[in-house]
Amino acid sequence: MGHQQWFSVIIFAAVTLQFAYCDVVVTTKHGKIRGITSTKTNTFLGVPYAAPPVGKLRWKNPVPAATWSPKVYDATKVKPGCPQKGCETMNPVLVCPKQTAEDCLYLYIWTPLSANATTSFPVMLYIHGGNFVHMSADSLLFDAEELAYRGQVIVVTMDYRLGALGFLLTKDKRATSNFAILDQRQALVWIKENIKAFGGNPNMVTLFGQSAGAQSTIVHLMSNESSQYFHRAIVESAPLTIPFKTEEEMLFISNMLFDQLNCSTKDIDCLNKYSADDIAEAQLLIRKYPSSIKLLEFFEPWVPYVDGVVVPSQPLEAFRKGFVINKPLMMGTLTEETRIFIYEAYNQSLSALEYGLALSLTFPRDILNVLEMYPPTVSPDQRDQLQVPATDFIFTCGTRNFTQNVIKQNGGRVWTYVYDHAFSFPGWGKFTFCDGHVCHGSEIPFVFQSTKLGNFTITPAELKLSDSLISYWSNFAKTGDPNRGTPVALEWLQYKSDSLWPQMFFATPSNSVKSSYRKEYCDFWDSIGYTPI
Ligand SMILES: *[C@@H]1O[C@H](CO)[C@@H](O)[C@H](O)[C@H]1NC(C)=O
Ligand SMILES: *[C@@H]1O[C@H](CO)[C@@H](O)[C@H](O)[C@H]1NC(C)=O
Ligand SMILES: *[C@@H]1O[C@H](CO)[C@@H](O)[C@H](O)[C@H]1NC(C)=O
Ligand SMILES: *[C@@H]1O[C@H](CO)[C@@H](O)[C@H](O)[C@H]1NC(C)=O
Ligand SMILES: *[C@@H]1O[C@H](CO)[C@@H](O)[C@H](O)[C@H]1NC(C)=O
Repeated sequence: MGHQQWFSVIIFAAVTLQFAYCDVVVTTKHGKIRGITSTKTNTFLGVPYAAPPVGKLRWKNPVPAATWSPKVYDATKVKPGCPQKGCETMNPVLVCPKQTAEDCLYLYIWTPLSANATTSFPVMLYIHGGNFVHMSADSLLFDAEELAYRGQVIVVTMDYRLGALGFLLTKDKRATSNFAILDQRQALVWIKENIKAFGGNPNMVTLFGQSAGAQSTIVHLMSNESSQYFHRAIVESAPLTIPFKTEEEMLFISNMLFDQLNCSTKDIDCLNKYSADDIAEAQLLIRKYPSSIKLLEFFEPWVPYVDGVVVPSQPLEAFRKGFVINKPLMMGTLTEETRIFIYEAYNQSLSALEYGLALSLTFPRDILNVLEMYPPTVSPDQRDQLQVPATDFIFTCGTRNFTQNVIKQNGGRVWTYVYDHAFSFPGWGKFTFCDGHVCHGSEIPFVFQSTKLGNFTITPAELKLSDSLISYWSNFAKTGDPNRGTPVALEWLQYKSDSLWPQMFFATPSNSVKSSYRKEYCDFWDSIGYTPI
């Protein structure tokens, strides 16, 4: 061999060694698993937390993942998201999976570089949103490298079954619904059993989620079975007023799916002739039809079904039924949550007459009071105005009502926030009506600080905002108090009593604490109640 060749061999060996060094191997209950080491975290992509829900396991509760030992599981590649259609039509593309497959019950795990089997890092499990029909954990938006690195926490994201595959109910109970919720719980069980091996503390788990993920988090807070697997919760933008489904309503929408696929409603075998993609397509087609007279459900046709067991109650009714939520809670909403939904529902300008009509369809009983509280403006287009009562009713005030009840039960370990920053980069894509507005989901790129992956540049003020979110979120995961842990610039006051409603206002150039946000409006909705029609 000449020098040249030896040189190549050495380079080759160095590269190979380097590569081996860049891998990280962890021993789980199911076998060894190999992930990727970057300069910031160890990352494990596409870790199976349940058996693939295919074939005989379609429409069944999740079962634990099989053991792969003595093989080493390759957790260096992303897995497909759960079956869905129309994601890019209804959401910015960055939250949509590049591929989907029915075999989709996988986790994504980011750990600080110093994490190993002897460490005890707090764990944060994220449940993504998407109306229970869209999005996936492997999307760039939910890439948790920065959150894990800057917050020094272990972050886990998960995929769970969506739409009909996640919620179908049949009268003969061959399909019992709420599979999506049970998948999420299975991920919690997996963490309990395996996260120690990654350097995490199974007794310090924070469940957090946004939108449908926030609704899911509330389900787990209400469930005795789920709640033994986590210790604190962060609820971002829960549309608390959108009701979960009754048995009758869940059967109704399930039957629409049978009809759409030309199957008789009892014939689940007929449904099983269709691929997961066919089912997702059919589910998209029936979305045009209201699935009940409750207008709000139009926005979320597949939601948890109150079976009294997996899903014990409607969230806002839980307290009347005596459910106790005895965990620290962080919860908040954005200032223009419903703008995206209003502009998607009405793609042309909305007259004052149409504005009144839209409200009277939702609140026929209280329409005069509602119009007195929220009169139309002088603008020829009332869409901006319609999002005001919609945001108050669906998000802001429902959240206040919920947290007011929680403080009575958990000794005031509640911190609430309002998020009021419209991001500066063109992240909304074709949803230009959200540019310059604080649309639903605006905080997510800053909670994860995942913007660089979409090649978006953020301003110094936005970086500061994002760092503050990461401090509060990770402090809460570490100590159960967003102020304790990493020093924070501003004390986030607890929401201890009904009279004051201190809230962290997340904004640029700096955060502030305000109180009594939207008070008279929330007092109004409390007096009317949260069950329209
Ligand atoms: C949860 O547990 C508490 C205390 O054991 C019990 O009172 C309550 O009924 C349980 N809730 C449900 C939905 O089973
Ligand atoms: C269901 O039947 C209708 C009418 O016969 C037909 O147009 C449609 O393509 C069928 N759908 C499926 C999924 O087979
Ligand atoms: C609004 O929706 C209608 C009906 O779906 C469609 O024909 C029209 O092109 C849309 N307009 C815009 C501006 O997108
Ligand atoms: C960001 O830029 C890099 C380098 O040009 C490219 O490889 C990557 O695909 C881009 N990411 C997105 C989401 O556009
Ligand atoms: C919450 O809303 C209900 C109406 O649905 C109202 O009766 C109650 O007083 C409100 N506040 C609390 C703390 O429950």
